Amino acid sequence: MIEKINQLLAEVEAFTCDNIDELEQFRIAYLGKKGMITALFSDFKKVPNEQKKEFGQLINKLKNEASDKIEYLKQNLRSSRKVSVGNDLSLSADWAPVGTRHPISLVRNEISEIFSRIGFTISEGPEIEDDWHVFSALNFPEEHPARDMQDTFFIEKNPDVLLRTHTSSVQVRVMGNERPPIRTLSPGRVFRNEAISARAHCIFHQVEGLYIDKNVSFADLKQTLLFFAKEFFGESTEIRLRPSYFPFTEPSAELDVSCSLCKGEGCNVCKYTGWLEILGCGMVDPNVLESSNIDSKVYSGYAFGMGIERIAMLKYGVKDLRLFFENDKRFLDQFDSNY
Ligand code: DAH
Repeated sequence: MIEKINQLLAEVEAFTCDNIDELEQFRIAYLGKKGMITALFSDFKKVPNEQKKEFGQLINKLKNEASDKIEYLKQNLRSSRKVSVGNDLSLSADWAPVGTRHPISLVRNEISEIFSRIGFTISEGPEIEDDWHVFSALNFPEEHPARDMQDTFFIEKNPDVLLRTHTSSVQVRVMGNERPPIRTLSPGRVFRNEAISARAHCIFHQVEGLYIDKNVSFADLKQTLLFFAKEFFGESTEIRLRPSYFPFTEPSAELDVSCSLCKGEGCNVCKYTGWLEILGCGMVDPNVLESSNIDSKVYSGYAFGMGIERIAMLKYGVKDLRLFFENDKRFLDQFDSNY
């Protein structure tokens, strides 16, 4: 197997191309989900213990060299676009660099795309909200300690004008405007009065999901989340649900996915548990349906909500959440995609 890696290393070193399609094919063949390097990582288990160290170092080297090569060729192709414009003298002499999409947008788009394939629409709501949409209609009684789960920014000391602390407020808006069946996804920015650190920020992004129809059950919720987890984190991903509490769902749960980095064996990202928590979910509490005049004897539904930063951190191995807000070009330039 070591020989095979050395051979691949030589191939990567020798590889060159003159267009972006060839480069993309190279990326898929080596680093794609079904690529040769990914396959080698899954062979790691089979390597005899005494060879694990050498093997591990070599595949990491191969992976880094392939990524560096792709980056290098991409830069080269970009700058050579200047030359390929030919004789159009009306074009600007300076090549204007094209920006890259923000990683939060990439992840939001990917999540939206996965759910749109199973019939979810996209809904948006305002960032400046009132108490009804953020708390009361979601079954947070006044003075209830559950309101302290989310530290709220109020505007001008008026307790009825506030920045939404979660995108669950959009559920209330949708249920106010539409009748079931409702199947919608609400991505958006949320605000909490929290100290900024590597793991928390006062501004972040969430995606909320809501499905209401006749006979919606917990099994539907579970299958939908399993589908999402496999599409987003890879076919071999497993899920588990742990009981939890949210005022607007009953029963409520938190969803963990098996750690895609160590394949459930335990690493520092999953804190050696093999599992990563990614979202909160549950069956919409009948009080929430009734608040929006939906008959809870006829209809039931499920809801879920996840933090986009958290998912992006897992996907790209980003350890400090503040990087998403600083707009440092050296960070942003690493995300180049058309998603
Ligand atoms: N709104 C919750 C939060 O911000 C997340 C959440 C949990 C949304 C469970 C849901 C849900 O729709 O069912 O922490």
